[in-house]
Amino acid sequence: MSSAAFDSMWADLDPVGRVGGGGYRRFAWTREDLTLREWFAQEATRRGLDLVEDRVGNQWAWWWDGPGSVDDAVATGRQGVVIGSHLDSVPDGGAFDGPLGVVSSFAAIDELRASGIVPKVPIAVTNFVDEEGARFGIACAGSRVLTGQLPADRALALTDADGRTYADALRNAGRDPDSFGPDAEALARVGCYVELHVEQGRALVDLGEPVAVASDIWPHGRWRFDFPGEANHAGTTRLEDRRDAMLGYAELVLAARAGATRRGCVATVGKVRVTPGGVNAIPSHVTGWLDARGADETQVRALVEDLTTQMGEHSAAATEESWTPTTRFDGDLSHRLRLVLQARGGSDAQLSVPVLGTGAGHDAGILATAGYPTAMLFVRNPTGISHSPAEHAEVDDCHEGVHALAACVADLTTQPASTTQPGSTTQPEKDPA
Ligand code: GLV
Ligand code: MN
Ligand code: MN
Repeated sequence: MSSAAFDSMWADLDPVGRVGGGGYRRFAWTREDLTLREWFAQEATRRGLDLVEDRVGNQWAWWWDGPGSVDDAVATGRQGVVIGSHLDSVPDGGAFDGPLGVVSSFAAIDELRASGIVPKVPIAVTNFVDEEGARFGIACAGSRVLTGQLPADRALALTDADGRTYADALRNAGRDPDSFGPDAEALARVGCYVELHVEQGRALVDLGEPVAVASDIWPHGRWRFDFPGEANHAGTTRLEDRRDAMLGYAELVLAARAGATRRGCVATVGKVRVTPGGVNAIPSHVTGWLDARGADETQVRALVEDLTTQMGEHSAAATEESWTPTTRFDGDLSHRLRLVLQARGGSDAQLSVPVLGTGAGHDAGILATAGYPTAMLFVRNPTGISHSPAEHAEVDDCHEGVHALAACVADLTTQPASTTQPGSTTQPEKDPA
């Protein structure tokens, strides 16, 4: 039943924001995003879940049949088990990054209800707004503002490619920027957060397993580099008279690649803005955005430092737009979920459930940094590709993800004692690989 529900929800989302080439453009607070938010609200209503929008615009669909309200439950120490992900995408992104977690969460609720489970704590499905930062530049903006890791005034002043501010986008979507900000009330309901996500690499394909538990997220950040120049005619300006902003940018791209290789990191310059942007005009200004990540925080920092100081005449100041330190998911929670998933094989045939680290950022990482017990499940991606239309998960693996998530939530909500204390400091289990 949950599989049919999954398939039907997946089919509903398929056309929303789809562009030529099969990818998706689902950017925060655009028409496509509002369609997705409406879809979320309808799925919540259809199930009789209580839909709440926090001060940032993150959506929460609460299931609680116990005595009193969700807040009554919270007041007596029964914080909720929260599952979900995000619905926005990168430019020309795949269908799975984000939506797989949200759709699987609704389907898991269906599965739990069909099995007759009576949760002892409330359960919520979330849709975190603006996870990818594709429009305004800062990833996980919804969870960062919610938890106070991104100041509201800074977020509201961010601009998109058309110069429209985040505040304008909110107004345009019928929200009031004055009430935008951290939301202690929404957070007080969270006992733990479990995000299911498509795997963004090939580990599960190579291991031959459909589902993994996450261990940690690499430290990562985004920096903006500005290169000034002077506009002039492409045909009449002698080479020695030019101040071509593009040359500094070109050097940045090559130096980032070389530095990342040297320091054991990864670095990407995936977005560039050229002014004035004419084929026959020398660029007067180029802005390039660097995304740098790696297992070792010191090396990532040093790479960016190298790029600002060692590029000779083309050195440029880097503006840090976001930084996320090494994130370790809650060790006790992750271990518990792994045991639940292993036990699904029955007493004689424990399932093998890999533990994987990742270089990708997630709202789960932001909640973990804020001190909430947080874990992630990954679902096999046969292409290993993500942030591209080639991102994929087979339908059987998607269904398996739903069953795995439902099993985890069943365990957490029927024996909730050890999962509902934000601020756990336990260490994660180690990746056995
Ligand atoms: C989000 O997917 C990121 O890792 O940037
Ligand atoms: Mn992503
Ligand atoms: Mn994602």
